[in-house]
Amino acid sequence: MRAAITSVAGYLPDDVLTNADLEKMVDTNDEWIRSRTGIEERRILKDPTKATSDMGAEAVKTLLEKRGIDATEIDLIIVATVTADMHFPSTANLIAHKVGAVNSWGYDLSAACSGFIFALTTGAKFIESGQYKKVVIVGADKMSSIIDYTDRTTCILFGDGAAAVLLEPSENHGIIDHKLHVDGNGANFLRQKAGGSLFPPTHETVDNKEHVIWQDGQPVFKAAVKGMADVSYDIMQRNDLAPDDVAWLVPHQANLRIIDATQRRMGLPAEKVMINIQKYGNTTAATIPLCLRDWESQLKAGDNIILAAFGGGFTWGAVYLQWAYDTPQS
Ligand code: UT7
Repeated sequence: MRAAITSVAGYLPDDVLTNADLEKMVDTNDEWIRSRTGIEERRILKDPTKATSDMGAEAVKTLLEKRGIDATEIDLIIVATVTADMHFPSTANLIAHKVGAVNSWGYDLSAACSGFIFALTTGAKFIESGQYKKVVIVGADKMSSIIDYTDRTTCILFGDGAAAVLLEPSENHGIIDHKLHVDGNGANFLRQKAGGSLFPPTHETVDNKEHVIWQDGQPVFKAAVKGMADVSYDIMQRNDLAPDDVAWLVPHQANLRIIDATQRRMGLPAEKVMINIQKYGNTTAATIPLCLRDWESQLKAGDNIILAAFGGGFTWGAVYLQWAYDTPQS
């Protein structure tokens, strides 16, 4: 028994933050951002009363509508996020409440930009064991809540968004393999330092801007290029997949140059790579399911798909799955 994705949906806030807007906020320019990252614009959740769970709940509602099932049928909700509404209760708790998933339990999983593939792998196990029939995996992040919009090295990169997939049992298709990694030394290069139990929030931590993302870009870039390319190549090798066998690469959208390096290492042509970084920037846990949502109409049952990510922690990995359904053309 395999766990197959049987529906996908996403939610993006309406407000757009363009490179031209950022030029007015920090010392940057459209040409630099496009050529170094591939990003043209990103979405921002401006409503101060809304948070990650609201975006996640919208994605889950659309997901259930598309699949034609009721929220009460959900067994489990796993939310990958680094921007939980609160330290507790978990975002999964809040989403379950907001969508009416009264028979579900759930939890959050923290693996930054690899969060979705870590959560997908984890959720699949509950289906493969035969215990559950419907598991919802959400990738959602309100990155604007942890960005310093005076820091040009980070504020140009990130955007807000959410997406969700439904996992159900399948005898033919679904998740086949995964290769996941963590390296805690990555905390020296990419982190949100304060606000946790090591550095609880104080006036000083806020004054020092330690409650927002800090990144030493170049070492992260080097580790990401190597980590994502190597793990994607490795998962092809151990599943005897030649480039012709792979229908799609779904890469985490952090930087177009990291995606290009992964594509080259896998020997794939550009048309097999899903790229929407220009529209949304890096939405952390939401990038991969948002790609699946944007490309859903082109996917066919039996397509071999590799999902690949690299993120803060460090965390990285790849998942190999076979797509389970043809989307009816509307
Ligand atoms: O998804 C989570 C994992 N994160 C990642 O995968 C991100 C990995 N890192 C990156 O994508 C890249 O390192 C960045 C996009 C963050 C930066 O690109 P880079 O090519 O590594 O640039 P850099 O940091 O080496 O900076 C080059 C120059 C510097 O100026 P000098 O020292 O050469 O005069 C920076 O100060 O670009 C300057 N710079 C900027 N200029 C205009 C840095 N940020 C900006 C900016 N606009 N926003």
